[in-house]
Amino acid sequence: MKKAAIIGMGVISSIHIASIQNNPQITLVGVCDIDDKKKSEAPEGIPFFTDYKEMIRETHPDVVHICLPHYLHFSVAKWAALMGVHVFCEKPMAMNQAEGREFADFEASHPEIHIGICLQNRLNESVVLLKDMIDRGIYGSLTGIRGTVPWHRPKEYYEVQPWRGKWNTAGGGCMINQSVHTLDLLYYLGGEIKELKAVTAQLLDYGIEVEDTVAARLTFSNGAPGLFLATNANYKNEGVQISLQLERGEFLIADNILYRITEDGEKEKLQEDSKMPGTKFYYGASHGKLIDRFYDSIEKNNQNYIHVRDSLMSIRLIDAIQESGRTGKTVKI
Ligand SMILES: NC(=O)c1ccc[n+]([C@@H]2O[C@H](COP(=O)([O-])OP(=O)(O)OC[C@H]3O[C@@H](n4cnc5c(N)ncnc54)[C@H](O)[C@@H]3O)[C@@H](O)[C@H]2O)c1
Repeated sequence: MKKAAIIGMGVISSIHIASIQNNPQITLVGVCDIDDKKKSEAPEGIPFFTDYKEMIRETHPDVVHICLPHYLHFSVAKWAALMGVHVFCEKPMAMNQAEGREFADFEASHPEIHIGICLQNRLNESVVLLKDMIDRGIYGSLTGIRGTVPWHRPKEYYEVQPWRGKWNTAGGGCMINQSVHTLDLLYYLGGEIKELKAVTAQLLDYGIEVEDTVAARLTFSNGAPGLFLATNANYKNEGVQISLQLERGEFLIADNILYRITEDGEKEKLQEDSKMPGTKFYYGASHGKLIDRFYDSIEKNNQNYIHVRDSLMSIRLIDAIQESGRTGKTVKI
């Protein structure tokens, strides 16, 4: 049995609580938020703290779940790890590439501590099957890929939690906060990216500091082109899509279903993602799967989870898109 504690009782914490409660090998021993109104959201009987250091000292968790604004991820992860506590940290892994490298170096110098990053979409059944087919080389190598994230965030989204939409607390806008998962999948599935050129924009007049829309043209190491389009300026949240073309096959992930595109352009359904009952439709069940896998890696002392080092490229790509958006130039990766 492993003891878990949660730091940050905002929107995403409910998924962590549900995942912990669904796993009979984990007990929740404490939750924490600086906002003491969040006490009412603590599950019954679970001690609530407003200071995470006090919570860790008093409850001695094996794992802390970091569900905090982005600017706190690394410093809190580091403090917990130095107390000997394993860390399961929400995305993004860092505010920018420089902090990401520091985090990866920290991870490398503390191999006894497991630090997992929550890029859960890698465990979607659709992604697992597609990745396996790519890795087995059945359809040849990549000839093109597209990732699209047409989402909607109302102005209140930024007003209720003012850390969002600001450079020094969120580290960016629609990429680091929303579409980092899709960007992660583009290189996870497509392979090494050589360079990119991008535009970043604010289409919404919300008065936030950061981008709400991006378009990036990617060039993979084998020369294959890619396109990444992400926005928070759509009129509603629509499904993320990834289309991927290999030398001898074409695939589409849309609305959490993997299709093979047949020679006559029809969609043949191959795999549908499972969903976590009682949660928002677009979260899927992969949070729970990744959390189970993380605890299993501690129990069995294996390395089977998404490490800090595995997620560094997502931040490298975001930094490169921001740089290209500022300068109008192609950026080497
Ligand atoms: N993996 C996913 O699909 C996914 C989805 C949504 C959010 N997230 C990530 O989860 C994290 C949290 O996002 P959210 O939307 O839940 O944010 P949120 O603003 O709703 O919640 C953050 C909470 O942290 C609390 N907090 C701030 N400073 C604190 C401190 N020093 N000690 C304790 N508590 C503190 C705030 O009071 C707030 O309740 C972010 O990194 C976000 O990117 C991930």
